[in-house]
Amino acid sequence: MRKLRIIGAACTAAALAATGMAFAQSDGVDHAKADAEFAKFRAEMEDSNPAELFEMKGEELWKAKRGPKNVSLAESCDMGLGIGKLDGAYVKMPRYFADADKVMDAERRIVWCMTEKQGFSFDEIAKRPFASGNYTPDITSLVTFVAGHSRNMKFAVPIKDPKVKEAWEIGKEIAAYRAGPYDFSCNTCHGSDGKRIRMQNLPNLAKPEGAIKGVFGWPGYRMTGGVMLTSQWRMNDCFRQQRFPEPKYASDTVTYLLTYMTATANGQLYKGPGIKR
Ligand code: HEC
Repeated sequence: MRKLRIIGAACTAAALAATGMAFAQSDGVDHAKADAEFAKFRAEMEDSNPAELFEMKGEELWKAKRGPKNVSLAESCDMGLGIGKLDGAYVKMPRYFADADKVMDAERRIVWCMTEKQGFSFDEIAKRPFASGNYTPDITSLVTFVAGHSRNMKFAVPIKDPKVKEAWEIGKEIAAYRAGPYDFSCNTCHGSDGKRIRMQNLPNLAKPEGAIKGVFGWPGYRMTGGVMLTSQWRMNDCFRQQRFPEPKYASDTVTYLLTYMTATANGQLYKGPGIKR
């Protein structure tokens, strides 16, 4: 909990810096050097990527008979390619699921399987859906495991499906929607090239090269706080940066944004669960 608050404080600072239009290009920091150092560090870390530990935990959870109905996800959960079929599933999501009559991203789909197939309570899962301190929710490990099965595959969100297309359109609108005390939208910080807040490059989510940066490496092991986090967490945290109320866990809003970003990154390579600053 404490660590989460520290991350929160950093975001407040980032948001305040942004209001002062401090998208500083010349803040005395050698960004090229800092970026290069981080890239080097990441390359070293990736040899022993901490995300792999969560993939292993997720594999156990995926295969275990669990929940009030005592079934495994492996024998009951369809991630879009058939029950138990995971290779390439993550890069083809969000997608439309007829059984739920919803477009779902991977995390939302796993939550759906946990509640519908295994009988877990949604409210229990939603109480503490993201990692903090030493706590990692099962859902995070499961998402990491599933994502690992799309390592080195290209994003191929089925955008031709009208339901997915509609989700993409709404996601695009949400990204442009300005409101809140600072009149920010996602695009205020992420809608053009070359913006940065303090040390962070802010990807332009409207272009494939930027969108891939937004979805690349999630779920990711975040060195700030030393926790494994999913792209659902990333969305929530950016809503907070925007001073919007945080969306309900696993809600349409988050799926729409993820559809917008992920489908915009279609054709780009996903390298698997990663490491984040
Ligand atoms: C006040 C500026 C601000 C607003 C508004 C904002 N973000 Fe962010 N966003 C950031 C910052 C700063 C980071 C980098 C944080 C970090 O790495 O610690 C970030 C990171 C991200 C990332 C991850 C990028 C990566 O490298 O992995 C995504 C994706 C993202 N934001 C999406 C959004 C979406 C979608 C919205 C609208 C709901 C939004 N952001 C609104 C500032 C903002």
